[in-house]
Amino acid sequence: MVSRLDWISHAGRALQGSVRVPGDKSVSHRALMLGALADGTSQIRGFLEGEDTRATAAVLQQLGVRIEMPAEGERRVHGVGLHGLRGASQPLDCGNAGTGMRLLAGLLAGQAFDSTLVGDESLSKRPMRRVTDPLAMMGARIDSRDGLPPLQVHGSQALHGIEYTLPVASAQVKSALLLAGLYAQGETQVIEPHPTRDYTERMLAAFGWPIDFEPGRARLSGGHALRATDVDVPADFSSAAFFLVAASIVPGSELHLPAVGLNPRRTGLLHALRLMGADIRIENPRESGGEPVGDLVVRHAPLHGIELPEALVPDMIDEFPVLFVAAATAKGRTVVRGAAELRVKESDRIASMAAGLRAIGANIEETTDGAIIEGGAIGGGSIESHGDHRIAMSFAVAGLIASDAIRLNDCSNVATSFPRFLELANSCGFALDLAS
Ligand code: S3P
Repeated sequence: MVSRLDWISHAGRALQGSVRVPGDKSVSHRALMLGALADGTSQIRGFLEGEDTRATAAVLQQLGVRIEMPAEGERRVHGVGLHGLRGASQPLDCGNAGTGMRLLAGLLAGQAFDSTLVGDESLSKRPMRRVTDPLAMMGARIDSRDGLPPLQVHGSQALHGIEYTLPVASAQVKSALLLAGLYAQGETQVIEPHPTRDYTERMLAAFGWPIDFEPGRARLSGGHALRATDVDVPADFSSAAFFLVAASIVPGSELHLPAVGLNPRRTGLLHALRLMGADIRIENPRESGGEPVGDLVVRHAPLHGIELPEALVPDMIDEFPVLFVAAATAKGRTVVRGAAELRVKESDRIASMAAGLRAIGANIEETTDGAIIEGGAIGGGSIESHGDHRIAMSFAVAGLIASDAIRLNDCSNVATSFPRFLELANSCGFALDLAS
């Protein structure tokens, strides 16, 4: 049990300097899982030392995989081969991680042993039918508590490939089906209403599994093998996002964010902020580990409200809390539609942000699938994170230009995705304190 931690965010000085944000969460989870199922030893560099990804590492260790930590941000995964995992006697604790639980549900559905997947209070409220229903169509047997965790995954089921069109854009669901597809007879094909992050597809290809994919569609067959591969994890765009908004809204700021992952399915916020008038440049665009990467330079610029194009929503699904902060401090009205998925993230992010923004005097109207925000000045106050890391970090950003201090209640969850956020933020000009 993590102890409760409250922060206070004060108005800071102009933000300056270079901020190296931690490794990508999505890539770190997947590198561990594919490394575990591969033949041979895979080296992961730039691994996210967050609670979510460490929980996945601990689960794989419970399943008999040896994972060494040669240094901070590095893992050496001794793969056991596709059929080498061993059943665990205890429940497998995914912590706060929806990605961990949903991907593992697919992976474990193909094993010869039973498993139980559990999570923390927030994860225990997140919908799992979106994975258990299509996995059942593949022949898996997974019991849940009325669609919620814990998940009892029954082993020794003969899986078969299916063609499945996702009802909602979700990389987690797509990935769960592809991982189950490794163990299935025949072909598994996933079709998406809107393309989502394709890390699973790219990484399966890098580990030598034959896979055919393009934006919006992925197809593979069971019965091959994964070959150990080294993975260089780029910095997480979702963690960089807090600094992109912070430097945009604080006058006089200029921040450099080196080596950030720029997979096009992740960079919707970059486009949204530019539509709002932000000054963000990409320098040294390059490829690293098969992923587009670049150094970001962001300077203060006056932002104005926008009607957010709905097509951007899946490409910035984790960035709405901080976009709402940008909108609340911008000139004019911002309208977000088509983002109902926000209601089933680590918290109901529309409700959490609306409550927090109102508490600091912002003008926000919640809608079923988004919000209407009238930008203006914001004040101090006390907000709840609702146990959600991105809500806490977003209000830390808001504190930079609030007329009075903002108390952020319950920030322990920040460690799930961004260990040492407080120190890093303070190093470039935030004024974040631990509350007594
Ligand atoms: C993720 C997919 C997204 C995202 C989450 C990470 C992934 O979730 O919100 O933080 O690693 O596949 P959904 O698939 O539920 O949209």
